[in-house]
Amino acid sequence: MSATATLAPPSAAATTARLLIIDDEPSIRESLDTLLTLEGFDVTLAPDGAKGLDILSHDEFDLLLLDLALPGESGIDLLPRITAMHPNLPVIMITAFGTVGNVVDAVRAGAENFIQKPWDNEKLLADIRSAIARHRAEAEVIQLKRVLKQRYNFENIIGKSEPMLRLFDTVAQVAPSRSTILIQGESGTGKELIAKAIHQNSPRRDRAFVAVNTGAIPSDLLESSLFGHVKGAFTSAINAKKGLFEVANGGTLFLDEIGTMSMDMQAKILRVLQDRRFMHLGGTQEIQVDVRIVAATNVNLQQAVKDGRFREDLFYRLNVISLELPPLRQRREDVPLLAQHFLRFYANENSTEAPSLSPEALRVLMDYEWPGNVRELENAMERGVVLATTRTITPDLLPSQLTGTTYSASVLDHRPDASLFDVMEEIERRIIADRLERCHWNQTEAAEYFKIPLSTLNQKIKRLNVEIKKRNRD
Ligand SMILES: Nc1ncnc2c1ncn2[C@@H]1O[C@H](COP(=O)(O)OP(=O)(O)OP(=O)(O)O)[C@@H](O)[C@H]1O
Ligand SMILES: [Mg+2]
Repeated sequence: MSATATLAPPSAAATTARLLIIDDEPSIRESLDTLLTLEGFDVTLAPDGAKGLDILSHDEFDLLLLDLALPGESGIDLLPRITAMHPNLPVIMITAFGTVGNVVDAVRAGAENFIQKPWDNEKLLADIRSAIARHRAEAEVIQLKRVLKQRYNFENIIGKSEPMLRLFDTVAQVAPSRSTILIQGESGTGKELIAKAIHQNSPRRDRAFVAVNTGAIPSDLLESSLFGHVKGAFTSAINAKKGLFEVANGGTLFLDEIGTMSMDMQAKILRVLQDRRFMHLGGTQEIQVDVRIVAATNVNLQQAVKDGRFREDLFYRLNVISLELPPLRQRREDVPLLAQHFLRFYANENSTEAPSLSPEALRVLMDYEWPGNVRELENAMERGVVLATTRTITPDLLPSQLTGTTYSASVLDHRPDASLFDVMEEIERRIIADRLERCHWNQTEAAEYFKIPLSTLNQKIKRLNVEIKKRNRD
């Protein structure tokens, strides 16, 4: 049985959304019914609370429009009973003008939003669509997480794209063994997350998972952290210290950024990988450990071997089982799910309600190339949660590098008197500034990207007065 068939929930967006309207005024029911049916919703009407509850007791809906001022039991009185029955059903309250106090109560009682009579059709439709989209996305993420947790014991890993599902299957298959695993993938694709999942899905899960950034630590320090040292091994070795190989004994040692490790360290690591034996710095006794090695890199190790920057023997030692994390741009169907997951996560962290993405914002996310992969998406969503003043994230709340294509609109918004020539110049300025920033202000790289001579880029930078923050850092 393939994972794809059972994991991917049916695309909820494809089905007609079902709406229930509970309102005692026939004219309101009728006008909402006409408007919403024309817009393609499947509408059910109820004239009072009792009938509404009866319908809700045996039917499922995607959204409820509930009148606040129903005769007898009011909408606010009904709300707790409705949410008890259908905790995930979004409810939009319909209120008369000037009932702000009641609305606050309603929102506290769990209503998603409210509309005031007389309403603006466009806004009502946008609110309904956004509430339904948010709830469907949430439901999909919850369902996906449940399945991933059940099947693989994965916590907080999201993905339903074909390459990720294949990867999950492989992880589940290889995790229980003691084989060394090499995880390759661009920065921010989730290598560390997968390394943890491997540990979590192995019999070693109750022992330590120790992560070491082998590329960032200077060689001598790395050596003493990995192997430990005896007292007096070097000037500052006042006490003996265990190495991380020992700390990880029985568990998993995650050697991160292995591609940039010095040649000297590569030779030392190779020895331990061969026989799981090593000596403390300054020590004389061999120590035997039982450690599972998972290594990760965002540089192409095969190329590094060819270039003479990485030992071939170590490469083969590490590359027993190799996992490749695809860049986010090659699995765009995961973008909405990941976005939803992060919106919820950061809303929780900030003790606010999770906002939803407007259709335009979602389009921006889907069209973007994501050079920083999942981490970049995560950062964008965290920023969105913090900046959002309503429950909808619109493109203007996304980082500017994502919205390169909407420059013209924003320029015209801010400078209504600008001529087309001014707008074009402003767009050119922003595109160049964005690219320079992404190239760490390396103009040669930017000129290559734009496929123009460096001298032309230089002239443009001067003419357009592009602000240069840092020049050719490297
Ligand atoms: N499939 C995923 N589901 C949920 N969160 C993810 C997923 N992939 C990555 N993330 C999140 O994105 C961030 C980056 O992931 P991680 O640190 O594992 O990437 P990495 O490949 O190790 O990056 P780098 O090469 O820069 O170290 C983390 O916060 C991680 O939790
Ligand atoms: Mg990492």
